[in-house]
Amino acid sequence: MDAAVKPDLRSAYEKAAEDGIDPRCIPQSLDENPPIGADIIAPEYSALEHDNWRFLYERQMQLLPGRAGQAFLRGVETLGMTSDRIPRLADLSLRMEAAAGWRIARIPGLLHERDFFNLLSERIFPSTDYIRGVDELDYTPAPDCFHDILGHMPMLTEPAFADFYQLFGQAALNAEGIDRIRLERLHWFAVEFGLIRQAEGTRIFGAGILSSKNEVLNALSDDVERRPFDVERVVEQDYEVWHLQPLLFELESFDQLVESFRSWTHSRGLT
Ligand SMILES: [Fe+2]
Repeated sequence: MDAAVKPDLRSAYEKAAEDGIDPRCIPQSLDENPPIGADIIAPEYSALEHDNWRFLYERQMQLLPGRAGQAFLRGVETLGMTSDRIPRLADLSLRMEAAAGWRIARIPGLLHERDFFNLLSERIFPSTDYIRGVDELDYTPAPDCFHDILGHMPMLTEPAFADFYQLFGQAALNAEGIDRIRLERLHWFAVEFGLIRQAEGTRIFGAGILSSKNEVLNALSDDVERRPFDVERVVEQDYEVWHLQPLLFELESFDQLVESFRSWTHSRGLT
């Protein structure tokens, strides 16, 4: 009988870190409140670091028109990003707050879940401010500011997505056990790897795709099975972190995301 086997409640990143894949992926707790918005002091980046940003930004922005969703492309403009230098988190936070009420906190790396959810629940996006090295331009398993800034921040200027993400943080703080795992899956398949159907075809809005050349080229290809986004199904779908994604879910609209997620959290007693 297998009935007594307990579910493995470690997050996918925790499992990977414990398997010795990359120490930068071990979540850390915040010892003190992180600086937010105008209080964030920008690092003195080297010319090489700005060059890494330029290379990554230009490469993605050549690929993304026609592949990324309208909300994302509008968000890049709203936030005033350019290729010539790594944007300052304080500047991005001001523009983001004006667009849909989110601010930015500077954090040191992958956060422990409770700190992460706490910030989201307060409409604060935790971002790193260091950039991957020149030997990691194609892939880095660890968080960095290219992923955080270009991947995540534009979508936080989209009002319905912005509301969804705060609601996600609030629900995650209330979730325990298997519901935490379900929310982690939802985060993966919506926030990191989400697709949306637009009049002209399927487009990308997930940060994990948008910040990766290989994931962008993979996401809309015939190698990927695309299924309609259904919260009940998404939260039961397992995934693996360390290779190109073979299965993605496609939203009809961001209103669908926020409304169906709100119903699901009610049904699970998480709000
Ligand atoms: Fe991310």
